[in-house]
Amino acid sequence: MPQIERLLEELTNAYGPPGFEGPVRAIMQRELAPLSDEMETDGMGSLIARLNGDANGPKIMMAAHMDELGLMVKYVTPEGYLKFLPLGGWLDQALINQRWAVITQKGVVYGVTGIKTVHAMTPESRGQVFKRDDMFIDVGAESRQDAEERLGIRPGDPVAPDSRFIQLAGGKLYLAKAWDDRVGLGVMVEVMRALKTGSSPNRVFCVSTVQEEIGLRGAHTSSYKVEPDIGINLESGVAGDYPGISPDEAQERVGKGPSIFLHDSSMLPNLKLRDLFMDVALEMQIPVQFNVLSGYGEDGAEMQRTHGGSPAINIGVPTRYLHSHNGIISREDFDHTVRLLTAVIRRLGQETVRRLKSFE
Ligand code: CO
Repeated sequence: MPQIERLLEELTNAYGPPGFEGPVRAIMQRELAPLSDEMETDGMGSLIARLNGDANGPKIMMAAHMDELGLMVKYVTPEGYLKFLPLGGWLDQALINQRWAVITQKGVVYGVTGIKTVHAMTPESRGQVFKRDDMFIDVGAESRQDAEERLGIRPGDPVAPDSRFIQLAGGKLYLAKAWDDRVGLGVMVEVMRALKTGSSPNRVFCVSTVQEEIGLRGAHTSSYKVEPDIGINLESGVAGDYPGISPDEAQERVGKGPSIFLHDSSMLPNLKLRDLFMDVALEMQIPVQFNVLSGYGEDGAEMQRTHGGSPAINIGVPTRYLHSHNGIISREDFDHTVRLLTAVIRRLGQETVRRLKSFE
């Protein structure tokens, strides 16, 4: 459906560095208003949309984060260049020679992380790694005063990557920034749309969290508020299907279905919940894959550890080139994730949840 494509385009093009998720929240509010019974924000800005379903049913929390990797303006040099602080897990090499949107009180100001031209480099320095501490953003200002007064730039202003959504491979694949985690938000919208028709044996809390990239901060407060019986996190998966990455590092392949995370540095999933996802996928003939990562962290960890603890799982839509200006996902993986998640949530009634939560 072109409607989903437009939503994903809008979600990925939107600017939303940690602590500045407003533009993304506005899209989620607009989309979820007709699909939910109630909506509220918590004290940090996470958006909690609720589908009441069975009033006595278990509380199912699904979550995806609204923030993307970004930067923050540290100070402006006397010459008018911006020195910055990275927000989130950037590779230094991914920061250089890119376009950025500085979000100021006067609106968006564009800039570039300039790179010293090869013409001025010694042969030895051409192979060097550029360090973040040496980088700056050039917004075309003439001086500090020009940057601050004319352009309205202030220390603390958020900075987002600037990169536009486009289709690849005749529409099978999508290239954009911020799939981490706008793809999860897109999945949630479509799952809510599917759940809205028909009855649910539970209460669904669809949570768009803030500040995930700097330590799962929004999921911490929103999980505390929801107190979920089951936590399902939706994320961009880590594809390992391009040159230079091995199955020992990441196992997912783009186009081969949603992935179930079996390990990342923030949590282990509940294995009964893993089995439920696998059983439903098999019945529906939806391909699933697994990922075992040594790094990574995600909001599922906060859902799992809230209050007395709850079974939780992280489901990924395989994504190439995470944490950079350009990532790739497959439309088919997106659709499969929506179908699988909708079917699993429909099965999470009292009996099933009791079984998942039981350790006898
Ligand atoms: Co993420």
